[in-house]
Amino acid sequence: MPDVKSLLTRERLTAAHHLAYSWVLDRLGYDKKSVLDFGSRYSLLPTLLALKGHDVTATDRDPGVTAWQADHARAWGVKFPAHCWHPGSEDQLTLPKFDAVTACWAIQHNEPETQGWLAHYLGRLLKPGGSLLIVGAFKFGESVYEEHRADPLWRLSGDGHAQHVIEPSGLQLKVFSHFYYVHATQEGEFCSPKLANSVAYELVKP
Ligand SMILES: C[S@@+](CC[C@H](N)C(=O)[O-])C[C@H]1O[C@@H](n2cnc3c(N)ncnc32)[C@H](O)[C@@H]1O
Repeated sequence: MPDVKSLLTRERLTAAHHLAYSWVLDRLGYDKKSVLDFGSRYSLLPTLLALKGHDVTATDRDPGVTAWQADHARAWGVKFPAHCWHPGSEDQLTLPKFDAVTACWAIQHNEPETQGWLAHYLGRLLKPGGSLLIVGAFKFGESVYEEHRADPLWRLSGDGHAQHVIEPSGLQLKVFSHFYYVHATQEGEFCSPKLANSVAYELVKP
């Protein structure tokens, strides 16, 4: 049975994904949790979560998520449901309450005025004391793809996260961390806000 160490490597993941997923796993801790991954698409995170022993449900509005995540999970000897779903769609899933919801580079792929609503919606899926773990772009430097720089959806600064996501979510901010990564060199680390192009933060349901 493969373990999490064989998957959570810099050979398999970009610097950005390695940093983000290590941060998520760290925040979740060692005890088994029920976790909804929002916007999973072709992410390795759901498999990593399952390998860590969490009960994971992968979701994305992209219908490709179901088959891809199932195949990937099988290849790593784990199993979890992967649903085509997005909050607010008519085709609602009956979802239980989760200990945590993870959203890596997903909330920011929505209009700024929808992002707070989404964070609030995802917060409603949490058990009391549960965490919404968000990873996204902070601001843009040389390291980010040209097309992202031109995309208004990606123009969020640190203040933008406060205004568009954190405040409307109704959740409490517990941790706000910064990191940078450089696609070209595959470098990256957690750092001061001055150097950062990315953020990872935890919101808790009171
Ligand atoms: C850049 S991909 C990130 C994939 C993955 N989380 C990762 O860590 O690489 C963003 C994904 O979020 C999904 N997404 C964004 N907004 C969504 C929404 N409102 N409902 C469902 N999925 C959404 C998109 O369909 C897309 O597959």
